[in-house]
Amino acid sequence: MIRRIGVITRDCAGVNAALRSVVRTAASHGVEVYGVIKGYDGLIDGVLRLLDRRSVSGIINLGGTILKSARSERFLREEGQKKALKTIEENKLDGLVVIGGNGSLTGAHVLASQYGIKVIGVPATIDNDVNGVDRCLGADTAVNVALDALDKIRDTATSLERIFVVEVMGRDCGYLAMKVALAGGCEEVILPEQDFDMTEICREIRTGNAQGKVSWIIIVAEGKARAQDVATAISLLTGLETRIAVLGHIQRGGRPTAIDRLLGAKLGNAAVEALLAGETDKCVSLKCDESIELIPLSVAIQPKKLVFEPEYRLLKVLS
Ligand code: F6P
Repeated sequence: MIRRIGVITRDCAGVNAALRSVVRTAASHGVEVYGVIKGYDGLIDGVLRLLDRRSVSGIINLGGTILKSARSERFLREEGQKKALKTIEENKLDGLVVIGGNGSLTGAHVLASQYGIKVIGVPATIDNDVNGVDRCLGADTAVNVALDALDKIRDTATSLERIFVVEVMGRDCGYLAMKVALAGGCEEVILPEQDFDMTEICREIRTGNAQGKVSWIIIVAEGKARAQDVATAISLLTGLETRIAVLGHIQRGGRPTAIDRLLGAKLGNAAVEALLAGETDKCVSLKCDESIELIPLSVAIQPKKLVFEPEYRLLKVLS
């Protein structure tokens, strides 16, 4: 019987929408929700806050997480996990919803598989690299935030006839880079999933330049190369003026898009319903924007293999 649950969050757009949905879905079933402050560190230290329907008012449009978050080194060790278990027992939590990316979901899998805690995960990461999940919370907002920045960079690239190399986040996954490059009308993208040939890229730039093409935007995924190294190589091999922009953490913040708010509402609701139905050690996912699926956490935390060749080919045709 589930009477009281805890909820742990990472930060990215759409997480607050999911939290609101968790709290209000639980309330509709008469289940109490405790928010864990600062992720797994808060679970270890027993820092929890009772969340009622009103405490999640006015947060659907906010980026980040109102519960705060942390990358917990302590939870990686058994000592930390045992302390977290003690908090769960002392606070009589019958289950947990964990909203986050691979690190958070790996922690959720440890709690479920090694300590028998009932846990459901909600995939939330701008990297969109949770295995088996089409769309993670935060990814759509991150693409849109990066696109907005890119549009501004394009103004300068065009006006000053320059080459720009723009580095985007994504850890080891090229999702953000590929989507931003294609949606932003960029000339090239360098992805962790594909080899790239600097000499060939520079040959294309020189040929284009000779035909009157004067501005280029090249997206680099942080998991493959550094913008500065790519820019230095381009300047050296083409003799053309090159600038860089590293977008960094602006991609993880910002007002969630409608897609991320809707996803948060649906996944938060599905996570609570799954816990109430007796499910555990799984993560909720929205398949083709329609139906909810439950994916074993042991599968969700495996490396995700994405293929970008068709989108890359399209980018080259259109650039
Ligand atoms: O996993 C999300 C992410 O934003 C990655 O894209 C990035 O590499 C990393 O986190 C940055 O981590 P931190 O915020 O700890 O510097």
